[in-house]
Amino acid sequence: MRIDIVSLFPDFVAQVAGHGVVGRAGERGLLALQGWNPRDHAEGNYRRVDDRPFGGGPGMVMLVDPLRTTLAAVRAADPRPAHVVYMSPQGRPFDQAKARELAALPRLVLLCGRYEGVDERLLAAEVDEELSIGDYVLSGGELAAAVVVDAVARLLPGALNDAESAAQDSFEPSVDGGDGPLLLDCPHYTRPVEHALGTVPPVLLSGNHALIARWRRQQSLLRTWQRRPDLIDPATLAKADRRLLEE
Ligand code: ADE
Repeated sequence: MRIDIVSLFPDFVAQVAGHGVVGRAGERGLLALQGWNPRDHAEGNYRRVDDRPFGGGPGMVMLVDPLRTTLAAVRAADPRPAHVVYMSPQGRPFDQAKARELAALPRLVLLCGRYEGVDERLLAAEVDEELSIGDYVLSGGELAAAVVVDAVARLLPGALNDAESAAQDSFEPSVDGGDGPLLLDCPHYTRPVEHALGTVPPVLLSGNHALIARWRRQQSLLRTWQRRPDLIDPATLAKADRRLLEE
């Protein structure tokens, strides 16, 4: 997969997102990440990329032309169709299902705005969708783009060492065949068994895989119910899950 980042700080995104799993996906040839700076495609001595908003008000708005020229160069760099995403707090919420959808694309372009935003005409003409990483305002789309790069890269086949570990993450429905609720991950423990801060739940030491799976499922259900009740609708819960939750 190829991901292009259009930003006034293109190296920043690669630096923030380029470690660990994402870096390894790059080394394994699963992900090609490239940054593009619209300033390099701006005209004039000052290479201007923004201007004051019509109608007045604070801040600056990013100009159509430098972004348009940059996006044309980005599209021309690879013949495969580019899905262009604009990172903004006005976008649809980014979630695990969207990460899976984006990870299936051959290429993705993440457009990061700075200042007060981007001229709406550029967005209408060039952008396929607008995504937000949460209901708060960042000073630019770069951190949001880094979040998307990380969430998408770890889903690329071969990016994780243990093929199972992505499927068992929080919000991955595959744990119960794909049509169950999206659940938070269960608690995890490692050595030592006995510690001043507590003991590992005995079921995890039992070697009984069916019992362990059942306990993990129950913990996931309980956690989700306690921390994110918005994710569970008891009315549509499978009977087995309802029993685990009520136990
Ligand atoms: N840019 C500024 N705030 C943002 C947010 N919450 N999500 C995505 N992009 C943003």
